[in-house]
Amino acid sequence: MCGIVGAVAQRDVAEILVEGLRRLEYRGYDSAGVAVIDHENQLTRVRRLGKVQELADAVEQSHVAGGTGIAHTRWATHGEPSEANAHPHVSGDIAVVHNGIIENHEALRALLQERGYQFKSQTDTEVIAHLVEWELRQSESLTEAVQKAAKQLEGAYGTVVLDRRDSSRLVVARSGSPIVIGFGVGENFLASDQLALLNVTRRFMYLEEGDVAEITRREVTVFDVNGVKIEREISESNAEHDAGDKGQFRHFMQKEIFEQPKALINTMEGRLGKDSVVVDSIGVHAAEILEKVEHVQIVACGTSYNAGMTARYWFEGIAGVSCDVEIASEFRYRKFVTRPNSLLITLSQSGETADTLAALRLAKEKGYMAVMTICNVAGSSLVRESDIAFMTRAGAEIGVASTKAFTTQLAALLMLVTGIGKQKQRIDAAKEKEIVDALRALPAQIESALKFDKQIEALAIDFADKHNTLFLGRGEYYPIALESALKLKEISYIHAEAYAAGELKHGPLALIDADMPVVVVAPGNELLEKLKSNIEEVRARGGLLYVFADEGAGFESDETMKIITMPKVSEITAPIYYTVPMQLLSYHVALIKGTDVDQPRNLAKSVTVE
Ligand code: AGP
Ligand code: GLU
Repeated sequence: MCGIVGAVAQRDVAEILVEGLRRLEYRGYDSAGVAVIDHENQLTRVRRLGKVQELADAVEQSHVAGGTGIAHTRWATHGEPSEANAHPHVSGDIAVVHNGIIENHEALRALLQERGYQFKSQTDTEVIAHLVEWELRQSESLTEAVQKAAKQLEGAYGTVVLDRRDSSRLVVARSGSPIVIGFGVGENFLASDQLALLNVTRRFMYLEEGDVAEITRREVTVFDVNGVKIEREISESNAEHDAGDKGQFRHFMQKEIFEQPKALINTMEGRLGKDSVVVDSIGVHAAEILEKVEHVQIVACGTSYNAGMTARYWFEGIAGVSCDVEIASEFRYRKFVTRPNSLLITLSQSGETADTLAALRLAKEKGYMAVMTICNVAGSSLVRESDIAFMTRAGAEIGVASTKAFTTQLAALLMLVTGIGKQKQRIDAAKEKEIVDALRALPAQIESALKFDKQIEALAIDFADKHNTLFLGRGEYYPIALESALKLKEISYIHAEAYAAGELKHGPLALIDADMPVVVVAPGNELLEKLKSNIEEVRARGGLLYVFADEGAGFESDETMKIITMPKVSEITAPIYYTVPMQLLSYHVALIKGTDVDQPRNLAKSVTVE
């Protein structure tokens, strides 16, 4: 779930390991730990509850020396966050770090206790340490022991093992949780995300499902799921070196909100012709596949799901293709009917979300004509396992609350909708040009929407002492309201809900009073008049309204209604545009409340467990 870093080198690696963990901090975690072996085969383990900085201070004080080590940030799934439950876990000479969940940990724990092992933590991870220790007694090598142990583990894991008696190697296994190996000169590294290692190398190899690899200073040997030695491709990363740097901004989330114009330009680059969408840029064979598509099933979680909900209006309204959107954790366990010529699309910033990945794998068995992902991380599991990977090029998103990943997903989805509409001859050249023009204009429009920052900051004061907030929208602004509510609750811990404005009278109207701010996303469109009636329903019951509308919408501020007037933009891209003031609103409310904006409590950036 969280971070793993490992190194085999001549030089002392404690600092590299801790720096790697720092670069993964954005994923959210509750504790951190490191274990290093020195040249005299002494193992030093340091673990701390809380921030990586606390671990860093402790590592410095204990003068941790040695060239071979493993490190971990933990996001507790089994056992409370505590120093005793923090990784690495040790059994005899074996030390282990682990991301993910071992589902059969209870059975294994009982078996290992019968064999005489004493458990010192409540984690599922500790069974790996004892199991490897046991298997090593009847194996020729650590690699063989890890292979034997891996066969007995059920669940999802990325795990790294070291043996105190042999400082020359680390053994790593991947099943359901990503592991990347980084190549240095006379030293090698590994991590759960390449970002952790960008300060030491740019050459990476991704392990595949079921792989076990042995890493020494000079060599990396990979065995596949059947234990057969195998070569995996090494590639050079061009990821931004400074992605982990906040620059002039106070928070990564703020930086990422302000990066949206650039992220959108990058996402559209090479994909828009003069008046058209370049269908081939969506992916190899995309043109043939899109032509045949009769139904689209979108599967995603969280913010990515909200992007899917928005795109549904576009798939049906623009391309005339039916579209369903479902939360991945529901889809994967539901008995569903696959419609003919159905395209399954997963949406994901990270490409590693466990529920979404499971849904993708299921869809492959259930007769979808093709599986596609719209994803922000190259080389991620969703990208590698999909027929078509349409990359959003937002750059690394560090803040746990997703911002630029959402708006770039929407831009990618709109290009895809246009591509499908064109391939199926459901949109004409004039409509295509209108969409392309709207997309092209968007980065500059968002640049100007960011100038509302000060005005929104002033507004945020009204929300900071409230316990609830309601967001309303109609049509494609309903999912934008959903996303706005998710943002506010994630980072400010204010309970927020979103409703399709027409649904208000069927229940939520009962909640309205002067303590419940109601935010309305209300740009001018064909539903505006209906929305105005919904606004009056709130006003009549003493509710306080904050209406984001455009110039022609005809609202006027008074003591019960504050109007934030935005410049008018194309109706097609307006949902993307209106997302930005909503992100700023959540950000400023969180700032006033003093919450941990980039790493909100209880949340992790990439949810690689169920
Ligand atoms: C967004 O602000 C969230 N923290 C979360 O809902 C996220 O969107 C969700 O976990 C899905 O992640 P993914 O896009 O990486 O698959
Ligand atoms: N399941 C393990 C634990 O609770 C690992 C959690 C993680 O991925 O950080 O310790």
